[in-house]
Amino acid sequence: MPLIPCQRALFDVPRGVAYFDCAKMSPLLQAAAAAGRGGLMRKAHPWEIKAAHFFDESERVRALFAQLIGATADDVAIVPSVSYGMATAMRNVRVAAGQTIVTLAEDFPSTVYACRALVAREEARLVTVARPEEGDWTQALLDSIDGGTALVCAPHVHWVCGTMIDLEAVARRCRSVGAALVLDTTQSTGALPLDLAAVDPDYLVAASYKWLLGPYSVGFLYVAPRHQQGRPLEEGWITRAGAEDFRRLARYDDALQPNARRFDMGERSNFALLPVAGAAIAQLIDWGAANVAETLGQATAALEAKLAEMGLHGQPGRAPHYLSVRFPGGLPDDIEDRLAAAQVHVSLRGDRMRITPHLYNDEADRDRLVREVREAVAQQV
Ligand SMILES: Cc1ncc(COP(=O)(O)O)c(C=O)c1O
Repeated sequence: MPLIPCQRALFDVPRGVAYFDCAKMSPLLQAAAAAGRGGLMRKAHPWEIKAAHFFDESERVRALFAQLIGATADDVAIVPSVSYGMATAMRNVRVAAGQTIVTLAEDFPSTVYACRALVAREEARLVTVARPEEGDWTQALLDSIDGGTALVCAPHVHWVCGTMIDLEAVARRCRSVGAALVLDTTQSTGALPLDLAAVDPDYLVAASYKWLLGPYSVGFLYVAPRHQQGRPLEEGWITRAGAEDFRRLARYDDALQPNARRFDMGERSNFALLPVAGAAIAQLIDWGAANVAETLGQATAALEAKLAEMGLHGQPGRAPHYLSVRFPGGLPDDIEDRLAAAQVHVSLRGDRMRITPHLYNDEADRDRLVREVREAVAQQV
């Protein structure tokens, strides 16, 4: 029996759709969509919007994300994207000429481009950890960190192959050489627990539209207390001390909020989208990330066993929620479109097919996926 029973009724996923692409974009909970409709309608009646509303919903959602990851609301900024969060982190990390910045091969471009820009600005050197033969990213990453390392950028789960990285081990190594650690946990937060206190990253960023079951264009940036005096990307007004008093805004106080709120994006008080993010995170807290991981782990294990009969294998050391398989004869060219035509939705990344379920999936979905893949493989040979 799965730990959390199928939650399809909480979503709007029709019976005829087998959606296995949470790693690309999750569907919304019905409650989150309703919260978004309510939020959007606030703008239809702006006379009901008071100054306090520019703060209360942001604070509620900020606190929910903080609770989910084990931080405090003071440590969380509201950002539009991972690239924004990464740019903020890169603006504030200390790198000397000749030092190295370490990333993983095929990591998500929002991280890689940010690292490349920092390397160019500081005359540093980019070290890209090659994909290890046996898939043990943790050891390969540890081996690339040395006394010359200024910064390590890593995910908790590699977005292509689904491999988990032991972030506690990586963090210990970073601390031992004085390197900063910046994490992109977009492919894990909400579906995989992380002991934030044990890892103690300098910055952690997550987009909300995947495993946080939230809207597109909202993300969260955790900033360790030791960096909360840093410079934001923008010269916003709502990030200033005393911004709550709208009558005094033109007195221009340069002082920024004394915590991670100073890194908030402009217009972060998004009446339509923040309630969506909040409703989704509240549900995730209710389920518990460990329970979600265990339940999705059972679902992907069942799938993996069936796909293995066709010679399709996932990566050793993969995250419970993240199955990414290789085909023995290479990916059939048309497989993504072919499955989509049968209303089975997956995505291709690199030489792999990502199968990333959530609690709306059930056994009928899994059977359908296996059947369609079997047919595609049979036609390939
Ligand atoms: C690991 C990871 N990070 C970040 C993103 C999204 O980045 P951004 O918010 O900059 O568009 C994705 C989207 O696929 C992702 O897989």
